[in-house]
Amino acid sequence: MTQTRFATIVLAAGEGTRMRSAKPKVLHEVAGRAMIAHVLDALRPLQPAATVVVLGRGMDTVATAVAPARVAIQDPPRGTGDAVRAAQAALASSLAAIDSLLVLYGDTPLLRPETLSRLLAARQAGAAVALAGMRPADPGPYGRLVGDGTGGVSRIVEAKDASPDELAIGLCNGGIMAIDARRAFDLVARIGCDNAKGEYYLTDIVGLATADGLSCRVVELPEEELLGVNTRAELAAAEAVMQGRLRRRAMDGGTTLIAPETVFLSADTRFGCDVVVEPNVVFGPGVSVADNARIRSFSHLDGAVVGPGAIVGPYARLRPGAVLDDDVHVGNFVEVKAAHLHAGVKASHLSYLGDSEIGAGTNIGAGTITCNYDGFSKFRTTIGAGVFIGSNTALVAPVAVGDGAIVAAGSTVTRDVPADALTLARGVQVDKPGRARELRARLKAQKKG
Ligand code: UD1
Ligand code: MG
Repeated sequence: MTQTRFATIVLAAGEGTRMRSAKPKVLHEVAGRAMIAHVLDALRPLQPAATVVVLGRGMDTVATAVAPARVAIQDPPRGTGDAVRAAQAALASSLAAIDSLLVLYGDTPLLRPETLSRLLAARQAGAAVALAGMRPADPGPYGRLVGDGTGGVSRIVEAKDASPDELAIGLCNGGIMAIDARRAFDLVARIGCDNAKGEYYLTDIVGLATADGLSCRVVELPEEELLGVNTRAELAAAEAVMQGRLRRRAMDGGTTLIAPETVFLSADTRFGCDVVVEPNVVFGPGVSVADNARIRSFSHLDGAVVGPGAIVGPYARLRPGAVLDDDVHVGNFVEVKAAHLHAGVKASHLSYLGDSEIGAGTNIGAGTITCNYDGFSKFRTTIGAGVFIGSNTALVAPVAVGDGAIVAAGSTVTRDVPADALTLARGVQVDKPGRARELRARLKAQKKG
């Protein structure tokens, strides 16, 4: 994409207080993936020479989530400018080999690689700083870009420090910058903290560069791509934009979404060709659906692999480790967890299939339950090929049913069933002719007396 050699600093040390969360802001998820992971995903195709993520103290969960990216600690967090300074040591060895330093914020999950390329190209074309601008419908708390009269930017004023005239500026700071690598840390070192928040604002480097006679250019981008998530409402807004993109990608890739706005996808949801997804389906992380499968309404899939031609739902639940081979049918109110259903298995109604292996062509009757948990440990159920499990059967694991066996309805199976056996494990039916009439008469008489 771009030929520019650059390194990236991703800022994520802020406390994110406006989220009102015990969890670091950048770990909040959009389309099932942490916001900061989306930022790193957008960077990957551009192959930065180095990436450093700036975190606050004790943000070990974020460090784990961003691995193998390098981490620098900013303690305490004293603003975005101070955060860039905190990454300097980690980048020292890369600086000589790069032209630009790209600074991204960990809370802008909608950035796309093409946009980062454009920004780097603008920087490369001669600007000391290239920054992303946007014109949001509600500029609210965003920094305002003050023009330099030549189409560039002379400084950025944060909303809290802005005069009424400056607040009226529609062009806002989108929060990503490409900075001349030779000057970046010199500019950052000169940032002060004489402002409303008493913080070191990265945005002040624009005014400093202008004072040095350098030019700062703005690349205008759609607001939706630069959305910075500071609150739960903004998280929901980012989710809505991302869902729109993912639905579009699925349809462009050959998947039918009958009512796209009712289907919720994860960033990593994968579809084969000619998959049909009916209205109101949720795909959690880690789902792949192969060619010609149909996911029927009100199903919820998470960590599942759906094979070619399979039919799932309506009202099915596939949990992590569910693997459905070719032409499997899983019907309404069937829950599958850590279970491999081989080709042609049918489980059409009201079942729980967990920690199981089910052989090809087996039919699982309505109400079959694999009893996989004794309150302490999980146990496996193995069912062979061509088996018929009658309705309302409890399979008490660990237990195995051999190929070709038939288990009668209502059985509670506690021992292994041999191949081709007919197994009945239920109370024996007793019929007493005429006794119902007698019983009714006696009870009626007792009630009168
Ligand atoms: C920032 C910009 C604002 C811009 C907006 C775009 C500054 C001063 N302001 O405001 O001009 O319009 O983003 O979304 O940069 N962070 C640190 N260390 C800190 C403080 C913040 O690493 O000490 C990180 C945060 O984790 C976050 C990012 O920097 O990922 C941005 O910080 P945030 O507090 O969200 O800045 P905004 O107020 O949104
Ligand atoms: Mg922000």
